[in-house]
Amino acid sequence: TSDKSAMDVPSTPPPMMLTQDELKRIAAHKAVDFVESGMVLGLGTGSTAKHAVARIGELLRQGKLENIVGIPTSKKTQEQALSLGIPLSDLDAHPVIDLSIDGADEVDPHLNLVKGRGGSLLREKMIEGASKKFVVIVDESKMVKHIGGSKLALPVEIVPFCCKFTAEKLRELMDGYGCEAKLRLGGEKGKAFVTDNGNYIVDMYLEKDMGDLGAVSDAILRLPGVVEHGMFLDMASTVIVAGELGVKIKNK
Ligand code: 5RP
Repeated sequence: TSDKSAMDVPSTPPPMMLTQDELKRIAAHKAVDFVESGMVLGLGTGSTAKHAVARIGELLRQGKLENIVGIPTSKKTQEQALSLGIPLSDLDAHPVIDLSIDGADEVDPHLNLVKGRGGSLLREKMIEGASKKFVVIVDESKMVKHIGGSKLALPVEIVPFCCKFTAEKLRELMDGYGCEAKLRLGGEKGKAFVTDNGNYIVDMYLEKDMGDLGAVSDAILRLPGVVEHGMFLDMASTVIVAGELGVKIKNK
């Protein structure tokens, strides 16, 4: 006999804990279920999108998908897709994309996104904006009430010319939201991070919610020196969220 109390033995097994990377893979594979042979596909960038690209490569290799053309959103994704034998093209040759699949840094209840913490926001916005369907894949940690106000960065791609000047103009513009604007580092020898387009990124850390996102978006884009920002407003058609309790699909 044992004098151990019942508390020592869980009556039901604990839920299987999945790692964040496993959740990302689950969301990515679910999104690839939307892919059909003959499609032109926007291939996203980041640790979640890379699972989708890998899955597309696998299905091509197995002959379960055919005649796919991929449009990569970054040089990194281009390398991965090439290594998997995915035929690639660009927006000049394929100005209309059937389906894009990509991750996001933040998703709000209206399916507005912040993207670009991986630095690929410009190509992502061009390619995903040209897509008939844009499926976003995230683990549940990316779901927020308001994008941009979480003290995590809202990235803005700027031209390198007088980057400190532009960063300061951005900070002034966003001062009302308690903004700190930092030039992203990570380039060679601690220099500025350089995007695939030869530009820099300013990460804006905001203390307050932005309120009218469309108005803020327009104001940022009006600043000379700004190329693009990481708010993807009203662009996602579907968001696939993988969590401990399963997968949720949110449609626009
Ligand atoms: C890159 C992006 C990524 O989609 C975003 O940063 C999410 O990345 P991850 O899937 O690694 O969390 O916008 O520019």
